[in-house]
Amino acid sequence: MFGGLATDVVDRLRSALRAAGYAYDGVAALLGPTAHAALSRNETVPGLRATAGRSPLETLVRLWPLQAPVLRVDADRSLPGLVDELAASGLLQVSGGEVRALVDVRPYAAEGSDWWVLSDLTPGLDGAPISVSADHVLGISSASSSLAQLTVRQPFGAALDLGTGCGVQALHLADHVEHVVATDVNERALAMTRLNGALNEVAVDVRAGSLFEPVAGERFDLVVTNPPFVVSPGVGERLVYRDSGLPGDEVVRRVVATAPGHLNPGGWCQVLANWAHRRGEPWQERVAGWLEGSGCDAWVVQREAADLAEYVELWLRDAGVHGRPDYAQRYDAWLSWFDSQHIEAVGFGWLHLRRLADGLSREPVVHLEEWPFDIEQPLGREVADRARRTDLLAASSDDALLGSRLVTRVDVRQESHGEPGADDPATIVLRQQRGMRRARQVDTVEAGLVGACDGDLTVAQILDALASLLGEDQVTLRRDRLRVVRELVADGFVS
Ligand SMILES: C[S@@+](CC[C@H](N)C(=O)[O-])C[C@H]1O[C@@H](n2cnc3c(N)ncnc32)[C@H](O)[C@@H]1O
Repeated sequence: MFGGLATDVVDRLRSALRAAGYAYDGVAALLGPTAHAALSRNETVPGLRATAGRSPLETLVRLWPLQAPVLRVDADRSLPGLVDELAASGLLQVSGGEVRALVDVRPYAAEGSDWWVLSDLTPGLDGAPISVSADHVLGISSASSSLAQLTVRQPFGAALDLGTGCGVQALHLADHVEHVVATDVNERALAMTRLNGALNEVAVDVRAGSLFEPVAGERFDLVVTNPPFVVSPGVGERLVYRDSGLPGDEVVRRVVATAPGHLNPGGWCQVLANWAHRRGEPWQERVAGWLEGSGCDAWVVQREAADLAEYVELWLRDAGVHGRPDYAQRYDAWLSWFDSQHIEAVGFGWLHLRRLADGLSREPVVHLEEWPFDIEQPLGREVADRARRTDLLAASSDDALLGSRLVTRVDVRQESHGEPGADDPATIVLRQQRGMRRARQVDTVEAGLVGACDGDLTVAQILDALASLLGEDQVTLRRDRLRVVRELVADGFVS
């Protein structure tokens, strides 16, 4: 397969892509905003109109993202001396005087880096029937970008990208990690990841095997994974990029339960996941159960809970089953299975696990929450900051917290709502403008506290002043508000 592409062919391919200006910004500029947005909706007509000039860049954009046939003569001009070799390796198809792409190669830019990412062709362009093979290798999806932006980007010694697909997470990791291991069960994905590493001159240690099997006995500072988490019966036809072959959310449970044993002290495991909401079992209980005895702090955020019918429709469409004769039967079978498992909804979200650092003997802090509102990515820094605040709070006695001089985050704004002309607002909301964009309804004491945290006065001094102002007992107010102070610190309003 593509893995067999000789080094000098990869080198010449890289040179040709560079010479053509086949980089993210160049392609975006060539397409313009309308065609670019249309392509993200899988529509190619505006893009074809914007690339009619037959320059090397236009040819490459037509060949790969737009999946249009190009003239052999244009392909030869854009990929000098490479067309036959790429065809022999299964990347291109040459027929008559035309060349077509058999896999996708497209520029990808993020966090200051520019890469080319080879993956399988995007199915269903321009409304064509979706047909994907069992070993289809996904390109960069919104889930991939979301995980990449959630990832803690600190200098690390070793990281694992579990279920690497086309290797997008591994490329990101190589920017800040010395040794990157990428694993997958799909040989086609592994071949693509190897080629993507070579093309981008990024060292990735690519290994075959299921879940943590290829890294038995090894430990990492960071594990990232966007596993095949679709919640289904786990039997029958399997698209390996989304179906683990295990029933329900078992694959996520296994990842979460096994990862801690592969983390160095202070190491992270960041997972994108689905989980089942079962009748009579709050989702928080189910997911927290997977974390028991892990020795890890955990921050779990449920971003949405999908209605079962919508969930089944989404994934049957994704597989190209919508409109096929077996659609209704498969839809019905999936819903029946949900019924038999007492599953009422499917949660989607993130899990951030961090193994306690050496020398910490405290109980892990596990925080699970629902936050379905708008956020601002990248959140990787916030994930690390929250962990730092968790350590700080766990190490701070109430007296230490009362004696601390906290500072309100610069992006926190206060919103007051009420009847026009009213003396006092009916509600006060503190809202972060950045990151998680948390909003918190507060009373006058809490608003006063956050307003006064400028690093000058201690928490105790501020609370005492507020007690005097409001005619409340100082001891009682301090005691009653300490929980709130801890929440404000944990959620990053003050630190
Ligand atoms: C949703 S894709 C994620 C691809 C890529 N990491 C990303 O972020 O876009 C899931 C990947 O997990 C792989 N996979 C499926 N079952 C696996 C298993 N048991 N062990 C490891 N990887 C697996 C699939 O082949 C696929 O590449």
